[in-house]
Amino acid sequence: MKGLKNKVVIITGAASGIGKATALRFAEEGANIVVADFADGTATVNEVLDKGVQAIYVKLNVTDPESVQAMVAKTIDTFSKVDVLINNAGITKDAMMKKLTKEAWDDVVNVNLTGVFNCTAAVLPHMLEQKSGVVLTTSSVVGLFGNLGQTNYAATKWGVIGMTKSWAKEMAKNGLRFNCVAPGFIATEMVKKIPEQVLNEKILIKVPAGRLGEPEEIAAAFAFLASDDAKFINGTVLSVDGACTL
Ligand code: CAA
Ligand code: NAI
Repeated sequence: MKGLKNKVVIITGAASGIGKATALRFAEEGANIVVADFADGTATVNEVLDKGVQAIYVKLNVTDPESVQAMVAKTIDTFSKVDVLINNAGITKDAMMKKLTKEAWDDVVNVNLTGVFNCTAAVLPHMLEQKSGVVLTTSSVVGLFGNLGQTNYAATKWGVIGMTKSWAKEMAKNGLRFNCVAPGFIATEMVKKIPEQVLNEKILIKVPAGRLGEPEEIAAAFAFLASDDAKFINGTVLSVDGACTL
């Protein structure tokens, strides 16, 4: 991909799953990586370092603005700039609407929606000053089409699309780009929580590709959208879902 070498890329939720695969893909493209996660990200950092680029782990809680500010400050102290933010940290707390608690609603909104606000707000002053930057956010097929048992999650994954489109309209003139990737069902810890019968009999049978996606297939979409190959792509949502939305 064009233009990713020596870029500084913050990836939230990079200790595992899609975030970890994305860190490794950007490292292969020659970018330096900030692994920002609530969980321990040192394993990701070590694998990134093996690819010959620089990387740091910063413990981050995206719901806490002070933690987010500290993570961005550490990034600037270490690398002097931030070129790309990938808002990828996310959680599920699934329940049918009739059983959905206010606590499960709040928890998912705080991480998946407010967390995206917090992280984007913290990098913006730097990107606006340097007149360049890319913010990518992990939405979901569930944000676009809804899903049984996912009222809270669907609201957040649709919400980040609205935020992304608004930011593109506000700040394209400043040289900034904002896009979402909407994965289908991807083989990570998150999908392991789906009851086996539901996954096999209700979800996978509707995926024309006939399989779960791999985290690396989402990482490739992020790499493309962050690269100069995508420099006229702004405010869009790229579905990577094995055609399960057709
Ligand atoms: N799609 C279609 N049908 C579903 C479904 C789904 N996602 N989830 C549940 N159902 C069906 C069940 O098969 C069951 O059908 P039958 O009555 O015909 O057997 C019915 O709905 C009720 O389900 P449960 O008996 O499991 O009800 P419950 O109240 O015990 O549990 C639940 C409800 C917590 C939502 C549980 O069913 C569940 O976890 N479902 C999976 C939800 C899901 O798809 N989550 C995606 C997580 S991965 C992710 O979110 C990443 C991403 O972006 C794609
Ligand atoms: P995952 O559970 O492997 O990774 C999520 C990461 O986010 C974890 O490392 C976790 O520690 C981190 N995290 C959670 N809360 C945090 C917080 N408050 N602060 C900082 N980090 C936090 O799951 P996966 O699948 O890799 O998920 C990554 C993103 O992709 C999520 O936003 C998810 O909603 C989204 N997604 C996943 C799909 C899938 O099928 N796996 C499909 C569509 C979207």
